Amino acid sequence: MEMKGFPIPENCPEPGACIRVERPEPGLAVVILDPPHRSLAVLDAPLLTDLDKVVQELQQERGLRGIVFAGREPLQFAAGADVAGISQITEREDALSIVRFVHGIFNRIENLKATTVAAVGGACPGGAYELSLACDYIIAADDPKTRIGLPETQLGIIPGWGGSHRLPKRVGTPGALDAILSGRLYPARTAWKRGMVDRLTYPMRLREQAIEIAMGRLPVKTKKRGMARWMVDRNPIAGAVIGSKVRKQVEAKTRGFYPAPIVAMNLVLESFSANQEQMVEREAKAVADLSVGPVCKSLVGIFFASEAAKKYARGTKEFRPRKMKRGGVIGGGTMGGAIAGSMAEKGMDMRLIDLSRGALDVALLDHAAYIGKKRKRRRLKPHLADAAIDRLTASEKMDGLEHADIVLEAVAEKMAVKKAVLAELAGKVPSNCLLATNTSSLSVTEMAQGIPNPERVVGMHFFNPVRKMPLVEVVKGELTSEEAAIETAALAARMGKTPVVVKDVAGFLVNRLLGPYLDEAIRLFLAGVDAERLDRLMLDFGMPMGPLRLLDEVGLDIATHAAHSLSEAYGERMLPSAGIQALMTDKRLGAKTGWGFYRHPKGRKNKPELSSDLGSYQQEDSAASFSDEAIVNRLILSMVNEAARCMEESVTATATDLDLATVFGMGFAPFRGGLLHYAESEGWSSIVKRLEDIAASPDILGRPGGGAKFSPSEWLRSMADGDKKLF
Ligand code: NAI
Repeated sequence: MEMKGFPIPENCPEPGACIRVERPEPGLAVVILDPPHRSLAVLDAPLLTDLDKVVQELQQERGLRGIVFAGREPLQFAAGADVAGISQITEREDALSIVRFVHGIFNRIENLKATTVAAVGGACPGGAYELSLACDYIIAADDPKTRIGLPETQLGIIPGWGGSHRLPKRVGTPGALDAILSGRLYPARTAWKRGMVDRLTYPMRLREQAIEIAMGRLPVKTKKRGMARWMVDRNPIAGAVIGSKVRKQVEAKTRGFYPAPIVAMNLVLESFSANQEQMVEREAKAVADLSVGPVCKSLVGIFFASEAAKKYARGTKEFRPRKMKRGGVIGGGTMGGAIAGSMAEKGMDMRLIDLSRGALDVALLDHAAYIGKKRKRRRLKPHLADAAIDRLTASEKMDGLEHADIVLEAVAEKMAVKKAVLAELAGKVPSNCLLATNTSSLSVTEMAQGIPNPERVVGMHFFNPVRKMPLVEVVKGELTSEEAAIETAALAARMGKTPVVVKDVAGFLVNRLLGPYLDEAIRLFLAGVDAERLDRLMLDFGMPMGPLRLLDEVGLDIATHAAHSLSEAYGERMLPSAGIQALMTDKRLGAKTGWGFYRHPKGRKNKPELSSDLGSYQQEDSAASFSDEAIVNRLILSMVNEAARCMEESVTATATDLDLATVFGMGFAPFRGGLLHYAESEGWSSIVKRLEDIAASPDILGRPGGGAKFSPSEWLRSMADGDKKLF
């Protein structure tokens, strides 16, 4: 069968170069995935073509008893399918041809007469695991680097190279649904416990043991799933019950925006009633439909943007960032405590400093509790958990920083206080120690003035809650060196965050965009739009929470403070409405005080509910009759217009970086690909026209400056001129 439409990588090697077949003994073939054009094997067009040829040859060979499929090193099996190649496919027919071609290879592997064994180790996601699933046995290297699973739904597709029907047969319906819908990559031991692999061994013995199994000299006990499980898989009623329960969960989570999980779920549920041929066709069609659709394109785009951000963090040929060993955090409050704890968790010896003993005690307890939870859930071995707890020490004095590689300040948001802290620090740390600030609104450039070696002063802006939010804005002040930015990004990446470099402008990127959005939400509310409707419309748009709920999470006091700093910097277009002052009291500051727009009952299971008195704070009803579309436009386009100004000022290096920050920093609907992707998909001329209409319409709440906020920026007009393309 021919494979059409799979993009060929630029540095494509000679045919036959991607696979080596070794013959260590008679009756045995070891098939090694070893493409010369990749540092880690990827199932791309050249490798699959070579694999196809090799498997066809093995099929014809007589006297073959065992075949092992292995990577070039024990911990380098294959990194999965060529996602970059798949993302370039635009024709459904091409996608169909590729999936059918791969199924042809994997089916042939499954039907080989010889005993087949996959020897996997290191990353083994998606297509790489699906290749293993076609083998009779899977043996995995028991090493922390091993990660096995089917993450396709995270990229808007399904495991379409056999995973959707082979995994259920291996582990049963519930286990397969869990693995496929969560998209998790499991450590070796968990994968073994779940029956996803048959045996674990030391990386050094991986190939040797795989050979022993293939040659029938080492018996393997395949995990038995038991009668009850078997009944579940074969019983249509059980399937229907599981299906309806899982569908409800998936729909609640995806709100219908992400088609892949439901398609994957249906395929898994059908896998016991359909035959192999039918399943192959269904998988092929599902992948073909999904892979050329907009959601897959958006999610794959975010994946690559995030990979590019991490690549920046690896530095350049001329400059590689050091691996930081020791650090300090000044200010152990909400942010500083969690930041210091996260750095300690990642292996750094951390010193946390605060004037208040109470704050330090809370931070230490919180760190120990967090790590303790991980230990309890077996995510950390006991001795490693103890070490992580011990790596965080605290002091009320600024001491213990003589060997620090980085010190981050997270003290009160006041320029004078922060400058004093940095000046004192500069006298206590080595001259090459990075001085980072977690400020959310102050100028990094100004903070660096007068500090010795100001090129090492850099913004490292985490979001709240630190452990959950995936974005870190790396703020480059005018004096900040490229090296300092790279090292900060490297540390953020090591902490599992996605770093995006931004210019030192008020609000940086994410808060600068959120400012006009949250203010518009407050105005719409005060001008008569029902609070429930306002938040629901944004949930329906795909935001993770409505703007009023977000205001509660941020804290009404912090949001008000941020709004004023933005209006000082940007003037008229960001002038905040005065409205929430009336609602805000010491006891009503949002989630942290248990009451804001919502009542926030204690306990994780209790959902916040809108406060019953909100109607009394609405000042007019001029916006009550606005259509849903008009409300969504005002909210989202207030951000689009500001994002356009950020593009004018090159606040991020690229539009892709800006989009990435909107997805990871504010949860902007990932299936839309980010704020600018959304705007482009709507059409730039349409965006300009809608903005002009809002700017020309009567003000709500007598907005000063008329349409300053909504007058389309020059950049938007230039994009609309000829409807240019950004992406
Ligand atoms: P916080 O008020 O919870 O903690 C500040 C801590 O700094 C307090 O424990 C205080 O005792 C200590 N402190 C004050 N002056 C000090 C000094 N001279 N030396 C040592 N310790 C001192 O504040 P939070 O919320 O943690 O904010 C800290 C920084 O992080 C601020 O710059 C804020 O703008 C920024 N930020 C806050 C976010 C949030 O959501 N809370 C989000 C992102 C950034």
